[in-house]
Amino acid sequence: MDRFVIPTAGGRPSIVTVGPDLVDRIGELLDDRPERTTVAVAAQPTTVRIAGRVAERLRAAGLGTVHLPFPDGEAAKTLEVVGDAYRALNQAGLTRGDTVVAVGGGALTDVVGFVAATYLRGIEAVYVPTTLLAAVDAAIGGKTAINVDGKNLAGAFAHPTAVVVDERILGALPAEEAAQGHAEALKAGYVGDPDLVAMYRTGRALSDLGAVVRRAVAVKVDVVRRDFEERGPRAHLNLGHTVGHAVETATGLRHGSAVAIGMVAAAAASRRVTGFDWLDDVRSILEGLGLPVAAPDVDRDRLLDLMALDKKRTAAGLRMVLLEDVGAPVVVDVGDATVRTALDAIGVRP
Ligand SMILES: NC(=O)c1ccc[n+]([C@@H]2O[C@H](COP(=O)([O-])OP(=O)(O)OC[C@H]3O[C@@H](n4cnc5c(N)ncnc54)[C@H](O)[C@@H]3O)[C@@H](O)[C@H]2O)c1
Ligand SMILES: [Zn+2]
Repeated sequence: MDRFVIPTAGGRPSIVTVGPDLVDRIGELLDDRPERTTVAVAAQPTTVRIAGRVAERLRAAGLGTVHLPFPDGEAAKTLEVVGDAYRALNQAGLTRGDTVVAVGGGALTDVVGFVAATYLRGIEAVYVPTTLLAAVDAAIGGKTAINVDGKNLAGAFAHPTAVVVDERILGALPAEEAAQGHAEALKAGYVGDPDLVAMYRTGRALSDLGAVVRRAVAVKVDVVRRDFEERGPRAHLNLGHTVGHAVETATGLRHGSAVAIGMVAAAAASRRVTGFDWLDDVRSILEGLGLPVAAPDVDRDRLLDLMALDKKRTAAGLRMVLLEDVGAPVVVDVGDATVRTALDAIGVRP
């Protein structure tokens, strides 16, 4: 079992624990809070069984539990669902000292985190991420969000007190679901852990998921510790996301797949701007993971419009994260010629 500690402004740290069968030890992984009497256990339709195990363990630890069902995926990240959750928590009598545990993927941790951050002006949240993407990315770092018109338009910074990453659950994920998380874990490697990228090159990443999770979590925790509110290094985690977000919106591809394509674009831009060439490297790793490396059917002008709308655009041009080396990211305002190079690399042509 490995522990990663993120200090927070509020005083209580956010503690990420990674290990096998941790769900069965959730009672000991919650911090000591005499005022806690009830825990609401939130689940997606796909995680009801795991949530049941969590609830059982909490009851064995002497706590009362309430089941809090949410819709699947992005359908949970709405104001209506948030309203329903507030009412359910109120009806269950949850007070300031109580806790909400989110058992699910990143969509669930995002919305439950938002509910916990705002119900009674903030109660404790704990996450049990059940997708690889949530374990290495969404559940860590204290960003919560729901979609209102735009994706993640409303949200709050609020850390869970505990993130319980159960390797056994992640190991049981279908390959296509795991691939979505591998895209972000690989990104974490390129941003801050050359050894992790090497694991992907040799294929060891697929046989040693525990090491991948620990390494990717370590990169994110390190960046978050250095930069809580995204003024500096945290932006490095957006590697592949400037183009990736636009591809995601234009194609409806899942986030990890879109980020995979975005990383290929970032690699082409890096080669031109910094001279560091990781284009073939990232392409072959992504292909090995069964992730897409191009978006040939996307309309170029539509993609450019979407990128222009993105938060990452500045007066100086389009802001992209590029690499000077594996583990050495830089944020650069790139010009039109570089954007063209990036889009050519992913098969998006006029
Ligand atoms: N807050 C952040 O910093 C941050 C970072 C990255 C992504 N995100 C958010 O995370 C979300 C994407 O994460 P995700 O892909 O985990 O979302 P998700 O919650 O939609 O999960 C993906 C799918 O996997 C299913 N699933 C969950 N656990 C499972 C299990 N153990 N076995 C089988 N199926 C399971 C879910 O029901 C869902 O259909 C997006 O909403 C994104 O905005 C947030
Ligand atoms: Zn992402």
